[in-house]
Amino acid sequence: MARVALVTGGSRGIGEAISKRLKADGYEVAATYAGNDEKAAAFTKATGIKTYKWNVGSYEDSAAGIAKVEAELGPIDVVVANAGITRDAPFHKMTPAQWQEVIDTNLTGVFNTVHPIWPGMRERKFGRVIVISSINGQKGQFGQVNYAATKAGDLGIVKSLAQEGARAGITANAICPGYIATEMVMAIPEEVRAKIVAGIPAGRLGEPEEIARCVAFLAADDAGFINGSTISANGAQFFV
Ligand code: CAA
Repeated sequence: MARVALVTGGSRGIGEAISKRLKADGYEVAATYAGNDEKAAAFTKATGIKTYKWNVGSYEDSAAGIAKVEAELGPIDVVVANAGITRDAPFHKMTPAQWQEVIDTNLTGVFNTVHPIWPGMRERKFGRVIVISSINGQKGQFGQVNYAATKAGDLGIVKSLAQEGARAGITANAICPGYIATEMVMAIPEEVRAKIVAGIPAGRLGEPEEIARCVAFLAADDAGFINGSTISANGAQFFV
């Protein structure tokens, strides 16, 4: 039986590449999305990957959505907590709403996604938890106090889960993408983005498929001793 993988934010950007890669590798994939029905329908039509709509910021919606996925596809073996948003602003201009929205989606969203799946993984003595953090959780970023806080928090979640899951055959690892060619990065003002790219030794943005490659590596059955780690994929922009 194919292993079942859930990818949050799995119909667009990095998540889309992850969903496609896992399907190509033989997983039964469920991709969640928050709002863009049109894009999700086009994605399902093009890939055959089922999409499910819920807000990862809501525990109730996540638990109900995950129960539906498991009823339709079977128990989730691999969970990729990828859904994330930005609300960039210098700290002196950042509003409490901008802070809270990013916390709800990027940080609480990881709790809400993994927590309902975790007991089943413990019972079955197998699980792969993969959290998409960010280079900016490692180094901070001008204009991203909210986002950097969540992405650093994601690393704390992973390191703790790794210790709790290790004896139950569950691994938890993080991937820290650098600047990847997605809508999120393309939304950065052109002149700001040009300066960022100039600071990447690789001389280019990363491709979503290069992050999906890391996910495939961590998701594999024989990746069981890789636990609590952080894979950086940033074109040599930053070293921990
Ligand atoms: N370091 C130092 N100063 C900086 C700076 C930086 N990195 N970036 C901007 N500034 C300065 C500007 O030079 C300008 O200075 P002056 O006022 O002296 O001219 C000032 O800050 C701009 O201040 P403003 O109040 O005008 O800022 P703003 O309201 O226009 O907002 C910003 C600026 C929204 C932060 C904008 O610079 C921006 O979008 N920066 C990019 C942030 C970023 O990297 N986001 C990543 C998004 S992608 C992602 O998050 C994916 C991932 O995981 C990597």
